[in-house]
Amino acid sequence: MKQGKLLYAGKAKSVYRTDEKDHLIVEFRDDITAFDGGKKDTLKKKGRYNAEVSAFFFSYLGEHGVKTHFVRMLDENRMVVENLSMIPLEVIVRNIAAGSIVRNYPFKEKTPLRPPVIVIDYKDDARHDPMLNDDLILALKICTPAELKKIKNTALKVNDLLKDLLARQGITLVDFKLEFGRGKKGIWVGDEISMDSMRLWDATTGESLDKDVYRFDKGDVMETYDRVLQRIVKTSSAAGKKRTTAARKGSGD
Ligand code: C5P
Repeated sequence: MKQGKLLYAGKAKSVYRTDEKDHLIVEFRDDITAFDGGKKDTLKKKGRYNAEVSAFFFSYLGEHGVKTHFVRMLDENRMVVENLSMIPLEVIVRNIAAGSIVRNYPFKEKTPLRPPVIVIDYKDDARHDPMLNDDLILALKICTPAELKKIKNTALKVNDLLKDLLARQGITLVDFKLEFGRGKKGIWVGDEISMDSMRLWDATTGESLDKDVYRFDKGDVMETYDRVLQRIVKTSSAAGKKRTTAARKGSGD
């Protein structure tokens, strides 16, 4: 596959055309930003940590019936994805009150949110990603009522799957953001799912294991990302293999 023209350069990822019209390449760069771009840095290996975690989560979701744009890794930083037409929504699922919901509403930090709260922002840097509601989404014709229902249901399914997967590694999924796009076969999950787009807490110590370490100078960000990657990807993969082997043995395979 040949990398073609740069289509879009975001704060931490670049998207390129390829010689296959149905596929794009997403490059995870080493850039990291926070506070609407107010804080910026370039951190060695950051791109590959997020690429590897995203690929792992996308594959896991795919195995559990959630369609995502992920096709395969090209190298450590670059991912081949389906060419989706992205919907300008940031769909945030919150299991525990933290971050902007605590700043903007009278929630006490760490309050469990049951059922989980879905917050949808309009993806528009110039407008600072304002929060939407269903009426605004439909009035702006961003998607149809059926599409909105599908987006919310998928977001909740992703939450159930990732919450359980992470809990098995002693990690609490506090909140995360998804983006969706339209493909030939419906609405699929796109963008990334990584330490940059989630809030993860160690279930025992409460330690932040995500971009909050960078936002609030809580420690060595890349050391944290490396550790999370080991915990999530390497341990889950090993556990998955063990489960498969045990199941095979059990079935006399
Ligand atoms: O900042 P806030 O508390 O609203 O973020 C909620 C979750 O969504 C966090 O996990 C954050 O990393 C993610 N998010 C994101 N991209 C944005 C806004 C929020 O990944 N533009």
